[in-house]
Amino acid sequence: MNMGWNASLATGINAIDSEHFDFLRRMNALLNNRDGCDSVASALHMLTFLEHHVLHHFVEEEEQMVLHDYPAMLVHRDEHVRLVDSVLNARCDLELHNNRLEVIILSNRLLASGLLEHLNTLDRSFAQFLRPAPFQSQWDCV
Ligand SMILES: [Fe+2]
Repeated sequence: MNMGWNASLATGINAIDSEHFDFLRRMNALLNNRDGCDSVASALHMLTFLEHHVLHHFVEEEEQMVLHDYPAMLVHRDEHVRLVDSVLNARCDLELHNNRLEVIILSNRLLASGLLEHLNTLDRSFAQFLRPAPFQSQWDCV
């Protein structure tokens, strides 16, 4: 599933939006065989990026949800917990498979699809809560 940036994803919070934009670019490259697919090292580097995304970016989002008293925060946070578990379990599974390239790539693609789905649904809902009116972000022109 490829997914492009559009204004409905913009929260208006630059740190969140810039990370979502970068995340989309990297996930589309991964799903189109343009990144993280040519060596064990690059595939593990992509997995490390996914780990960083779920462990750090999710915390930033949740801080903003608390700050803005977001009513759907608990549902959104539960989904974050589930996604963090998926990524951390993937790292453990890969060690059981001796970090075989095809296993890492398949795992990364499954994780990317789940994270893109999250961005397209719950993160979009949070963005629309923060910015109910149409909003032109700086990322729309890239
Ligand atoms: Fe989220």
